[in-house]
Amino acid sequence: MNTQEKLKAFQQRIDKGEKIEPKDWMPERYRKQLIRMMSQHAHSEIVGMLPEGNWITRAPSLKRKMVLLAKVQDEAGHGLYLYSATETLGVKRQNLVEDYLYGKAKYSSIFNYPTLSYADICVIGWLVDGAAIVNQTMLAKSSYGPYARANIRICKEESFHKKQGYEMLAKMASGSPDQQKMAQDAVNRWWWPTLMMFGPPDTESPNSAELIKWRVKSKTNDELRQSFVDRSVMEAQAIGIEIPDPDLKYNEETGHWDFGEIPWDEFWRVIKGDGPMNRERLKARRKAYEEGAWVREAAMEYARKKKLKEDKAS
Ligand code: 3HC
Repeated sequence: MNTQEKLKAFQQRIDKGEKIEPKDWMPERYRKQLIRMMSQHAHSEIVGMLPEGNWITRAPSLKRKMVLLAKVQDEAGHGLYLYSATETLGVKRQNLVEDYLYGKAKYSSIFNYPTLSYADICVIGWLVDGAAIVNQTMLAKSSYGPYARANIRICKEESFHKKQGYEMLAKMASGSPDQQKMAQDAVNRWWWPTLMMFGPPDTESPNSAELIKWRVKSKTNDELRQSFVDRSVMEAQAIGIEIPDPDLKYNEETGHWDFGEIPWDEFWRVIKGDGPMNRERLKARRKAYEEGAWVREAAMEYARKKKLKEDKAS
């Protein structure tokens, strides 16, 4: 088949809902889009460990410390599943990682905000992981097999992340006046940055159309954002937390919650590297990466020697 015929056959497979596997023919653009999206997803998981890790030593009880430790460890695992899934596209993990540490690759804007109190940890579980679930449940049906399967595993763990955050927040929201204030203050700081996690408005999303054509995503940024708002408003009301949006209003006609204008200038500023914590996050990750070089070299040398021995024996 010539390229045109291959493209046509590929689109037919996508339209039939088939999974594309690593060894299958795929348009170079499809591969490049997947590498971009999947590697940035993986970077987000790893950087996302920093804001929460900041509170492990200060968790209010042994139980909360154990739960937070388990969650942060899960995020590392999500990063590994996603880097492994991205490597099936013929790229090296080291290059992907160095792309965001020293290059232009992105990670989710949400992780460039500070965690100022322990209530932030509750809100990250409820809102940030809640938003990730809305997105990743869709990605679990992605056309690229390894990405879909990685998200299936990730979603199972995310639901624990969201539940533990929501449970803690409910406790604080019905606790002392100081705890109630801490909880509401954290929601006020994290609400709008969480809506930005879903990406720019559809009208300014250069990648969405192509990703939807190839069923990498099946919903647009705005559609996902809307379903997240609809679900979060109810959850907030259930525990007496206020959503910090004076324009929030239930729309009887559409059956959705209309919400106010997202501060997009903040969004673009943060993803261009000028958010509250961008510099600290990259500095911490570069330090860990550079100080961990000896571990990688030792592991590679061990693997090399082991392979040499096996080749000699065979
Ligand atoms: N943060 C950083 N960059 C963002 C962004 C965000 N919240 N939203 C969009 N962008 C970037 C895009 O990467 C793109 O830049 P690029 O072309 O240089 O990569 C540009 O802004 C335009 O955005 P588009 O809408 O055209 O891009 P996409 O169609 O790729 O949509 C996305 C962006 C929604 C992040 C999509 O890539 C996606 O769903 N990615 C997979 C999921 C993911 O990465 N989630 C991040 C959170 S991980 C997490 O929450 C961990 C959990 O355990 C807490």
